[in-house]
Amino acid sequence: MTAQLLPPERNHSPSLLGDLPDFQKRALEMLLDLAHNYGPVTRIRLGPVTQYVITEAEGAHHVLQKNSRNYTKEQSFMDVARLALISGDDLFTSDGDPWLHRRRLMQPVFHRRVVNNFRDIIVEESARMLDRWPHGQMLDLEAAMMDVTMSIIGRSMLSQNILDDHPQLYHAFSEVSGFVLDKATTLSLRLTPLFVPTPRNRAFKHALSVIRDTLGDVVRQRRQLPAEQHPPDLLSLMMAGHDDESGFTLSTAQLMDELFGIVTAGHETSAVTLSWLFYELARHPEVEAQLVAELDRVLAGRMPTVEDLAALPYLQQCVDETLRRYPAAYVTTRQSIGTDEIAGFPIPAHATMLINIYGIHHHRDDWQHPERFDPDRWSRDEIDRLAFLAFGAGPRKCIGEPLARLEMALITACVLQRFRFRPADRPSRLVTRFTLRAEDGVWLMAARRNGE
Ligand code: HEM
Repeated sequence: MTAQLLPPERNHSPSLLGDLPDFQKRALEMLLDLAHNYGPVTRIRLGPVTQYVITEAEGAHHVLQKNSRNYTKEQSFMDVARLALISGDDLFTSDGDPWLHRRRLMQPVFHRRVVNNFRDIIVEESARMLDRWPHGQMLDLEAAMMDVTMSIIGRSMLSQNILDDHPQLYHAFSEVSGFVLDKATTLSLRLTPLFVPTPRNRAFKHALSVIRDTLGDVVRQRRQLPAEQHPPDLLSLMMAGHDDESGFTLSTAQLMDELFGIVTAGHETSAVTLSWLFYELARHPEVEAQLVAELDRVLAGRMPTVEDLAALPYLQQCVDETLRRYPAAYVTTRQSIGTDEIAGFPIPAHATMLINIYGIHHHRDDWQHPERFDPDRWSRDEIDRLAFLAFGAGPRKCIGEPLARLEMALITACVLQRFRFRPADRPSRLVTRFTLRAEDGVWLMAARRNGE
């Protein structure tokens, strides 16, 4: 090992909180500042914890892929996330062998061939949503996409419509994911144990019991059915799945945790990406026109199929550009096990690593005019796919990517065949929540294409 100098520190103030106030108030500005004004590795201090921020594609791939054995999922956030679990672990929060057994079991469940079977559900739910949309009125696209992706994940996972059949479950999911995020990032919440009967703790516990009761009923009812009567959904596939090498299968509690994890990881991410895509289309009529022309040429007014997607390259470019410009997972974290070296800097053992996905997606060395929404960049030679980390990289890369891509492409195709959008008076402001969201929703003027 040749590394000597510590990575630069962003903030030299003696305050005990360090960069924490900045991170809480202006996280995206800070992530961009790290990309534009610091090197590939920077140290920031979030309260008592020093974080090693990686803002370079090569360094990120080193942590997530090349030397991934030296990095575990960072403990503090995962500890809080585990509060929402019954069995104590799911695919997202586990590490080591328990993670490997789950990943091997789940990989075939999320294979492209399998998720392509959900095409009908996606198209039907999109049509149901569009039938209800008014003509010539302002619409919150973020809320609409949250609803439609929740309906899709509910039907493809449980063969049930969560919005219609279990509205209380929908609210409970947002309460729990909001609580987990706030507890992980707010010192006062972190220091308040769960047994203290504060309104927030009580609301969290109530939401958790709604989720456990509802999912528990679904899993138990499914277990009582003979296998040949199981509907062809993700739950049936997970129940039937096993890891060939270890023989691992999922217990009822573990199944419930996986279902919970999939809704949490898979619904808001796709929804916010879609809402930012429509937001950008409304602000770039020339991009919208090119995309609509492609859809009209290939589909000629009929509903899209999975096979159509290969003939819609500009649609893929628009989705990729949205994922670059608005990566729903704007950062991810790891913890080093032993020492390491990145870009010539020493990384100590047990260091908290922050992979600055947002900063890497806006790095001027990798992207020309990174602040511009420019789907055409994906057809030019300039692209370095290593600098695109929307779905992560390495062994823990997003398992839901095939489903997310199918869902985003089909929904966009269905929507644009019937509606066009124009921007609201004022732009939407980005905020960092569990994902990259808009402060007050993504409001756009929606007009039917046939003008009715
Ligand atoms: C636009 C949509 C999505 C984005 C941007 C996204 C992003 C990501 C990223 C960046 C990771 C890696 C996190 C890390 O390395 O720490 C990840 C992991 C994961 N994602 Fe997604 N995701 C999306 C959709 C989905 C969907 C639809 C599902 C499931 C239905 C899903 C399930 C998961 C799971 C279970 C993991 C953990 C995998 C593991 O640790 O082995 N995601 N996602």
